[in-house]
Amino acid sequence: MLSGKRITLIIGGGIAAFKSLDLIRRLRERGANVTPVLTRAAEEFVTPLSASALAAEKVYRDLFDLNDEHEMGHIELSRASDLIVVAPATADLMARMAAGLANDLASTLLLATDKRVLVAPAMNLRMWEHPATQRTIETLKSDGVLFVGPNDGDMACGEYGPGRMAEPLEIVAAVSAAIADGPLRGKHVLVTSGPTHEPIDPVRYIANRSSGAQGTAIARALAALGAQVTFVTGPADVEPPAGVAVVPVETAQEMLGAVQAALPADAAIFAAAVADWRVVSASDSKIKKGARGGLPSIELAENPDILATVAAMKNGRPGLVIGFAAETDDVLENARAKLQRKGCDWIVANDVSPETGIMGGGENAVTLITDDGAEDWPRMGKDRVAMRLAERVARALNGDEG
Ligand code: C5P
Repeated sequence: MLSGKRITLIIGGGIAAFKSLDLIRRLRERGANVTPVLTRAAEEFVTPLSASALAAEKVYRDLFDLNDEHEMGHIELSRASDLIVVAPATADLMARMAAGLANDLASTLLLATDKRVLVAPAMNLRMWEHPATQRTIETLKSDGVLFVGPNDGDMACGEYGPGRMAEPLEIVAAVSAAIADGPLRGKHVLVTSGPTHEPIDPVRYIANRSSGAQGTAIARALAALGAQVTFVTGPADVEPPAGVAVVPVETAQEMLGAVQAALPADAAIFAAAVADWRVVSASDSKIKKGARGGLPSIELAENPDILATVAAMKNGRPGLVIGFAAETDDVLENARAKLQRKGCDWIVANDVSPETGIMGGGENAVTLITDDGAEDWPRMGKDRVAMRLAERVARALNGDEG
């Protein structure tokens, strides 16, 4: 399934580097060509000879090696690959990536590449939890870098927690999703998903019952058809899919910012259940019960309508803008009115009355509203709804329908 794909595998200097040798094997078993790049620190853990023998390829080690640069410089190395994988990605290497440093071959390659980058972090849990690392991760995610892991587990240092590198087969699955071939190959699709949380004070917030299941399934289906997916998600119950660029946000305003930063896109699907209102001035400290002798009064302001904002863009509007209409009454009528009001191209309408069990459940029954009319889809699993929608998006972007 990866046959003919070229993967540049940057091996960072961590104890998990030994698993990267197995990763080379697993990728090659599936038909990929793997070009290993070892950082200097990586060579303390694995030898260039073992990486080269397993990859059956030359190993790149040093930016200033004249022979290497003559044969294949760092620019060509990144151009020649379908995907760059960094495994293990150490805290140091990721921090240099996020800062745009280029002080060895690995970091130069990462700065020079126009290809997607998938990182598999591995480090001690305290290093992972350190605010500096978390800032780095946030920056890399908003730059569109893909992540797989880290997992929770026993660590070489004797501690237990997050920081273990994802297993080679998990990395292979993320690689496959990131470079899937299909009718959406080369297309960038933006998906919003999940609820938003609007803070009242540091411990309380306004939220809704969206689980993020439908948006997650849509992102997964688009990636499976080869799309490059940016997945902007509020705090959802379900894990984001592998192989998509995940941008986690909390509030509607953050979601709008992340969406604007992710554009341009060929299509944008707004599956998030965005809170309509936010608290005008969220308190910095916990509001005390009975403070000032009564109930607190909370002033609300309207949140930006992300879908309507993007649909109204004069420049850089995605060619296909799709909204959702979760309704409890007069579903079709309300959804049609919403299509007009929001200025989007399609609306996916669904009935979220409690008796349908759709909100938070595994199934969905939708009506797709386009210029050509309304199409009722039978009730089916959210994954199947997602795949059918992704296929429709592919047909539309490839000019097979309006
Ligand atoms: O107005 P309503 O919330 O019913 O509209 C639903 C559609 O609009 C969904 O596609 C939702 O993701 C999007 N939306 C948005 N920003 C908002 C409110 C809704 O993008 N503030």
